[in-house]
Amino acid sequence: MRISPTTFRALICISGLVSLNALTGCNKSESPASPDASLPTAKKAKSTYTIGMSQCNLGEPWRAEMNARIKAAADKHPNLKVVFKDAQNDTLKQRSHVEELVSAGVDLILISPKEAQPLTEPVAKAMEAGIPVIVLDRRLLGDKYTCFVGADNKKIGRAAGEWIVKKLGGKGKVVELKGLMTSTPGQDRNSGFREGIAGSGIEVIFEADMKWLEPDARKEMESALSRFPKIDLVYAHNDPGAHGAFLAAQAAGREKEMLFVGIDALPQEGVAYVQQGILSATFQYPTGGEEAITAALKILQGQAVPKEIILGSRLFTAENAAAGGEPLK
Ligand code: FRU
Repeated sequence: MRISPTTFRALICISGLVSLNALTGCNKSESPASPDASLPTAKKAKSTYTIGMSQCNLGEPWRAEMNARIKAAADKHPNLKVVFKDAQNDTLKQRSHVEELVSAGVDLILISPKEAQPLTEPVAKAMEAGIPVIVLDRRLLGDKYTCFVGADNKKIGRAAGEWIVKKLGGKGKVVELKGLMTSTPGQDRNSGFREGIAGSGIEVIFEADMKWLEPDARKEMESALSRFPKIDLVYAHNDPGAHGAFLAAQAAGREKEMLFVGIDALPQEGVAYVQQGILSATFQYPTGGEEAITAALKILQGQAVPKEIILGSRLFTAENAAAGGEPLK
């Protein structure tokens, strides 16, 4: 039976079916980037596969860690080669990187997109060209990708909110330093947090988008400090943001008046800050690098993978950090 291009493109969005591309050996190096490239052809396994990894930025240790995990996991498989691209926090550059990977005819694309909306179209085009795409950590709009790997940011935000309510005894004045609000973790860490504090006496007195960046967080915190004589706690959407806020408070001689909470919990970053008494808590945000390579291998070998691979998280505080934190319920 011959499947029409339209039917096949619909099927390709369903979890696992995109692996037909791998089964059929239908990749860009052998077929042009036209919608017909997604048509199944003769099955052809390859001896080596090239994976293109589009990273939105390597400025934060968390992203260097994601790439290192991807590399370490891929290095265990001599048939996998990974080509890394760093968009240096530039959405347009990241769009071109995805297009370049498609033209180069890679067998599979991994992407951790800077922003949801602008990266949706190039990824959809890669899929139409018959290249499976695994999205890591930040989401796109819609469902034109093969598989998403990442933790539940709404759950993490909600857990942070609930922890803060408890820590502050149900009331207090909080500064929220948000991650880039055109990226889905920023949106979810905000909405989850608001759910977590709902009905309590916690008041968000200042909120700003620090775009995931420590220097921006520091600057925003300087404004918060100049406007508010009393701040009980800073909730930042990532550990670099929480650290930037701490540095601003320290420069103003006010760091002991308030608590700082972040997200990421890298051992050498957030967890170390907790152990140094800089942060009161950090919530782990696993990079998903290894899980992405496991999923990539399955896809390339023609096996089905779930559409969503949701990773767990852990809470680290001064009390539990040495013991490896505790899982979020
Ligand atoms: C790094 C980072 C992390 C954060 C993640 C969200 O660029 O800002 O700190 O948890 O991205 O996508």
